[in-house]
Amino acid sequence: MENLTPQSILDGLGTQFVGQKIIHFPALDSTMEAAKREALWGAPAGTVIITEEQTAGRGRLQRTWVAPKGSLALSIILRPNIDYLPYLIMLASLSVTYSIQVVTGLKPQIKWPNDVMFNDKKVCGILIENDIRKNALKHSVIGIGINVNLRMADYPEIASRATSLSDLLGREVSRTALVRQLLIEIERLYLSLPRGESLIEQWKSHLATLGQIVRVNSGGKIYRGLAESVTSDGNLIIRQKDGHAIKIIAGDVTLR
Ligand code: BTN
Repeated sequence: MENLTPQSILDGLGTQFVGQKIIHFPALDSTMEAAKREALWGAPAGTVIITEEQTAGRGRLQRTWVAPKGSLALSIILRPNIDYLPYLIMLASLSVTYSIQVVTGLKPQIKWPNDVMFNDKKVCGILIENDIRKNALKHSVIGIGINVNLRMADYPEIASRATSLSDLLGREVSRTALVRQLLIEIERLYLSLPRGESLIEQWKSHLATLGQIVRVNSGGKIYRGLAESVTSDGNLIIRQKDGHAIKIIAGDVTLR
């Protein structure tokens, strides 16, 4: 398997700022922690922290994230206008979707809010953490974990709900090509934010959740109903059996 060197990622990348500074570690507890440290020390927007292997990867809703050798685990520091915060989830999941499509030809779907999936199995998880002080956004860190070259049979604890690109394709995928495309897509979508381009429309068109009967766990409360729509800032609207609509800001969706 090829090594992920900053040089091979950067060579001819052609972005203005995303990925122009890459900090690579052979192993790390979590790229989120390293990225936050770098952000506080003043790392420029677009800085990427990437590792071959994560020993204490973190997921959404206080979960852990398995990222052994062969997967992609990285965090990107951004310093967006606070008004753009709701769009980062859309931007991140779309960038992963597009880059997988370009590099492998596979067409993933997005499960609300930002899991990238194939046939109900997760191939990528995204975690976004923001440092907001006195109503000002200091920085955002987008963490992305993609199961690239993993034999899921080696990970029986997650194999029923996760898949990998190599398992889907029956061959290995260049992680360098994937990360390069990912950085290009992130920058392209990020730069489109001020132009008010319809990120939401692109995101909706990839959301597998819409139109499905779902069960949502939101802060320990369970809601069931039809995933009817999303609001302009990305919240999920569930139409319950009694006709009442409920807005979900954060939660975990499973199909019924
Ligand atoms: C989830 O689906 O729960 C989100 C998983 C996010 C995993 C990535 S891997 C790179 C970055 N570092 C972490 O510790 N987590 C994110």
